[in-house]
Amino acid sequence: MKHGALLFCGVLTAFSASWWGMVAYPQRQLSNLPIYLGTNDAGMAYQYPTARSGEAAQGRQVYVSLGCVACHTQQVRPVDGGNDIARGWGRRRSVARDYIYDEPVQMGDNRLGPDLANYGERLGTNAFPLTRLFNPQLVVSNTICPPLPFLFDHRSVRISGPSAEALVLKGTAAPAVGEEVVPTLAAYQLAAYLKSLHTSVEVPEALLPVPSEEASK
Ligand code: HEC
Repeated sequence: MKHGALLFCGVLTAFSASWWGMVAYPQRQLSNLPIYLGTNDAGMAYQYPTARSGEAAQGRQVYVSLGCVACHTQQVRPVDGGNDIARGWGRRRSVARDYIYDEPVQMGDNRLGPDLANYGERLGTNAFPLTRLFNPQLVVSNTICPPLPFLFDHRSVRISGPSAEALVLKGTAAPAVGEEVVPTLAAYQLAAYLKSLHTSVEVPEALLPVPSEEASK
């Protein structure tokens, strides 16, 4: 073939350049991303991110196994890339460092439900409402967020007496007289994971807005 060597070199260069740009360079840039050691306004040292507690780490596995990522992202877009911050889904954009401890990463690409990257902060000091996992429709009518009744034990109060952990279910959702719905360990773990989702920590590549900027929104 005429110019075969030239063609070969051209194809090789095109593939090598795209491999370098899409695989090797990002790997070099991000694979050794260090944990950030900072100092807050009160002069206290902090590190970010921190590994999750055992319960939340196990809850993460429950989250992954149930495929919540099919409808929920965990990536807050920057102000000029969308209205995530204005919607209260995060106080700053998500950065690669947020995912250092996450394997597999649950960034997601489908948003049928709200972004959960900073969901723990939205909960504030409130405990995660376990009824939401049992049946989200009891909390938000007509939601398509799936119920997870298999994370709860449906049991008779006659066996070991009423449990203090039983869900308070009213109306048609209430169990039959003499029965109760009690969360299993997996439900507590998933709740601990959702509560642990928190990205409102300042890192050099994504500063938190100063309070006056947030108030003026
Ligand atoms: C079919 C899509 C879908 C799937 C799958 C799904 N969700 Fe949802 N989720 C939604 C929608 C839509 C909402 C918003 C309405 C609402 O609050 O229920 C939501 C809301 C939520 C919220 C409240 C968020 C907020 O900002 O108040 C939490 C927490 C949540 N989902 C957790 C989960 C978990 C955990 C799983 C996996 C077990 C899951 N979701 C799977 C669609 C989904």
